[in-house]
Amino acid sequence: MGFASDLRILYHLALKPVRGKDHAARMENFYAGQAAAYDDFRKRLLKGRQELWNLIPPPPGGTWLDMGGGTGANLDYFGDSISRLGKIYVLDLSHSLLEIAKQRIAAKGWTNVETVEADATIFQPPTGPVDVVTFSYSLTMIPDWFAAIENALAILKPGGTIGVVDFYVSRKYASDALARHRWFTRTFWPTWFALDNVFPSPDHVPFLHRHFDVLHFQERRAKVPYVPLARVPYYLFVGRKRP
Ligand SMILES: C[S@@+](CC[C@H](N)C(=O)[O-])C[C@H]1O[C@@H](n2cnc3c(N)ncnc32)[C@H](O)[C@@H]1O
Repeated sequence: MGFASDLRILYHLALKPVRGKDHAARMENFYAGQAAAYDDFRKRLLKGRQELWNLIPPPPGGTWLDMGGGTGANLDYFGDSISRLGKIYVLDLSHSLLEIAKQRIAAKGWTNVETVEADATIFQPPTGPVDVVTFSYSLTMIPDWFAAIENALAILKPGGTIGVVDFYVSRKYASDALARHRWFTRTFWPTWFALDNVFPSPDHVPFLHRHFDVLHFQERRAKVPYVPLARVPYYLFVGRKRP
């Protein structure tokens, strides 16, 4: 994948208007033209995914649900331990991205991985409560993100794990334990990302801290392809559902 592929992605990110009568239609409209080139570009934009996966040991025989899992790129981060899990669901609203996930699953011969075209805010796993729920750069694209976290809380087993990696901005008056971003950071990134219906929020981090016991939390900055000097804030959160 080279510069031509990047140009296609940049066109979709920066110029092509996103259309659709509802959220699912808008997601598919945004991703359909970039599904094939998605993984290469997002590897450079969406940092911390491998680290998040490394922080969560796959529970033997357990169920892992990746909410907004897209092309299933995160499946590669399991390595050999993927076979230790009983079931993995890659859930997404975008049909085109899930088609790439299906190709990946078939190519690797994974028999315990299933794609689900559904909404993260309401999905109920047919196999019952799950051991792990992850959101990698999907919460910022889910308008009712609070409903997605509440749904994760409802379908996790007591003691189950939630893992989140995503862009964010701090509150103006973030608590002393958290990073406090300047006005420019708090204003620029939400405005820039909103063009693509990505909404970095000051509220995801406090909401996660309020609802889960914190096992790991880190605030970081990352480079952005083709935006020199800019460093976008992102965080890693691993929490446990209270018994
Ligand atoms: C930036 S992509 C991240 C994809 C993948 N997790 C990754 O790390 O490459 C955000 C994903 O969230 C999905 N998404 C947005 N809203 C959703 C919802 N309500 N339910 C399920 N998936 C959703 C989008 O279709 C998209 O695939």
